[in-house]
Amino acid sequence: MATTQTKTASTKARRTRRTGRRDPLAVRLLKQDHREVEAWFDEYEQLEDEREKLALFNQIALALKVHTRIEEEILYPEERGQIEDDMLDEAYVEHDGAKKLIAEIEAMQPSDDFYDAKVKVLGEYIKHHVKEEEQPGGLFAQAKKGDEDLDAMGERLKARKAELMAELGGGKAN
Ligand SMILES: [Fe+2]
Ligand SMILES: [Fe+2]
Repeated sequence: MATTQTKTASTKARRTRRTGRRDPLAVRLLKQDHREVEAWFDEYEQLEDEREKLALFNQIALALKVHTRIEEEILYPEERGQIEDDMLDEAYVEHDGAKKLIAEIEAMQPSDDFYDAKVKVLGEYIKHHVKEEEQPGGLFAQAKKGDEDLDAMGERLKARKAELMAELGGGKAN
């Protein structure tokens, strides 16, 4: 009896490892944000029209501001202790670097020298940061190994994202 139970448990564990468990909601939502903004950076490269460039950059900037805020308000502080301190500290520093570059670009016009170059470098910077979050052993992987309920956290991330989109996005339009 005991042998059978052990065998069943180990078969299940092997199957779970092989197929890869579905990510918890918090990780799924944050990865969705990553994919969305990556696609927008690619789209930006195809644009010629300056008004379209400005509109798409504003969309990217809003998405990045909201995404970094929800990570900094919810994921990062709640995972302190579960994720290596150095990795978490670097993530905050990378967010700050991105925010500075976003502010510089916001102060410019698409017709300015280096506008496109700065948007491109921001995209590369974000790609690097996203890799740090998503790679094996990275920030999300460590969070998944921790004790926090990342499905419940996902609900809070979603609600806070909606609030911030209204606050930061709505504020800009007025
Ligand atoms: Fe992220
Ligand atoms: Fe991040």
